[in-house]
Amino acid sequence: MYTLLKKCRACGSRTLTPVFNVGVQPLANDFRSDSDPHSGFYPLNVLFCEECSLAQLSVIVDPSVMYSNYHYLTSNSKTMEAHFHVLANDLKSRAGRVGSVLEIGSNDGTLLRFLNGKNFSPIMGVEPATNLSRVALNSGIPTTPEFFNLKTATALRAMDGEYDFIIARHVFCHIPDWMDCVEAISQLCHDDTLVYIEAPYARSTLKGLEFDQIYHEHMSFMSLRPMNRILNRFNLYIQDVVEYGIHGGTIGLFVGRKPPVAGFTDSITAKDWLAFSDTIRSSVIPSMVSLVYDLTKEGKTICGYGASAKSTVWINSCGWTDKSIKFVTDTTPSKWDKMIPGTSIPVVDPGALMRELPSYAILFSWNYAKEIIEKEKLFRESGGKFIIPHTCEII
Ligand code: TMP
Ligand code: ZN
Repeated sequence: MYTLLKKCRACGSRTLTPVFNVGVQPLANDFRSDSDPHSGFYPLNVLFCEECSLAQLSVIVDPSVMYSNYHYLTSNSKTMEAHFHVLANDLKSRAGRVGSVLEIGSNDGTLLRFLNGKNFSPIMGVEPATNLSRVALNSGIPTTPEFFNLKTATALRAMDGEYDFIIARHVFCHIPDWMDCVEAISQLCHDDTLVYIEAPYARSTLKGLEFDQIYHEHMSFMSLRPMNRILNRFNLYIQDVVEYGIHGGTIGLFVGRKPPVAGFTDSITAKDWLAFSDTIRSSVIPSMVSLVYDLTKEGKTICGYGASAKSTVWINSCGWTDKSIKFVTDTTPSKWDKMIPGTSIPVVDPGALMRELPSYAILFSWNYAKEIIEKEKLFRESGGKFIIPHTCEII
């Protein structure tokens, strides 16, 4: 069901230092109903490569296990729609034109549909989760229902040739074999192809104490130094870097064949990770455990808001059960009436917040805080309060 990481996926080094250990955890998106057997628990350890500074998980869970029952949908939140607008304009102005697009990990086709509406054409997606590629195909978005690798790239090249734009949003952290992936991207690039790579930035994860970004699907934690190393190997270069606020701090890398005048790099050390680990264990988790314990003792009711993968990490790391967290609301219908992985806490529709009116809602979708707090005005006007988990802030 899983394999151990033997060498760094960016540089091949075997000098890997353990820097963060979360014990065993369920798969963060393995939402199941009561009667379904779940996919089990797996070790969750972060190792740091001393050679290139890529932080990565010690185990690789078999992708067919991880993605066979996959409930993550590209969010149609206002926050993400605004991001797609910025991105579409940015791609167009940097390239000075629109053109053909390949999206790797195209999910249900949301971004491709958006780009097509902005005259990017033709479009093609690659999406291994069959439930999602089916949704995309049924709504008219050309999609290859496969994992993206050298084999898939060869088939795409034979069919479509090279692409003007290649987009890999939030996929590098999910891909076990970076060499194969970058080589596959390189095969599909002409001299002017603009490759856009986006991922949560390890530096933001560390700074924001976002340990809930660490789960089995996120096998690597993106930073510039290791990325340069692997891209350069295949004659690809980071030409610009943009930081976005989405998902708690994300970087967008604009990549192409031309080497930049000045390089883009960073330096994250094992020491940074060890300090992060220390703060999470000694302060972040214990503070939330105490807060929930105290509120429950006072007779307050608590629910979760947003059954994100992050909620699975929080709930399992804090050891909460349905005694303390009554339910978690989520907008994704396929998660309803299922349980938060590893627990018997039910996921319910968003209407439950006002129907049940719990005293507190832990905002597990903290990355959409502004939008959610605005949307749920009535909850707060009715006496409800939100808890922001990393800071224990009560709003
Ligand atoms: P994400 O942070 O990985 O995009 O996941 C966010 C989860 O939160 C997703 O399951 C949808 C859910 N969600 C809500 O329940 N309500 C909301 O208003 C928003 C924006 C997201
Ligand atoms: Zn390395």
